[in-house]
Amino acid sequence: MARTKIAVYPGSFDPITNGHIDLVERTLRVFNRVIVAIASNPNKDDSLFSVNERLEMIQQVFRAQGKRVQADSFEGLLVDYAEKVGAGVIIRGLRAVSDFEYEFQMAMMNRELRPKLETLFMMTGESYFYISSRLVKEVVSLGGDVSALVPKSVLKKLREKFKG
Ligand code: PNS
Repeated sequence: MARTKIAVYPGSFDPITNGHIDLVERTLRVFNRVIVAIASNPNKDDSLFSVNERLEMIQQVFRAQGKRVQADSFEGLLVDYAEKVGAGVIIRGLRAVSDFEYEFQMAMMNRELRPKLETLFMMTGESYFYISSRLVKEVVSLGGDVSALVPKSVLKKLREKFKG
């Protein structure tokens, strides 16, 4: 029987967007299981949503995928977390060339720390090239419409946060 291949897809997911979801769907075409892992850093937390809120949103979005998509959070180094959950691959999305430098540095640092852990870059779907959680939050905070960029459940949570 083929070995189960687990990929870990780390990020802030503050909140999860349609771009992230597209990437998870692409990843599922290659791997048996994906763990969407929220990096939690209690010492530097300027997130809009708490880790629990982010976890709930991710769980809700991927409910239909069953065990193939798992939501989790971790503190500390990503490479240690990947080892703990038995993932051999880190997935990151590339939207544009501008993402590359930051992503390249992280991938190389992670390789330095764990040479056998691979980072795999997936190209985000064309319709999602311009989406980022940061811009989504900014647009909602200023009253703009992001209904095409995030799932309905996330949109509801965003509107609740910025209400009043
Ligand atoms: O969605 P983001 O904010 O671009 O994700 C960045 C993330 C969470 C992947 C990165 O900051 C990370 O891996 N954090 C965990 C701590 C760690 O391992 N840092 C060293 C990275 S080389």
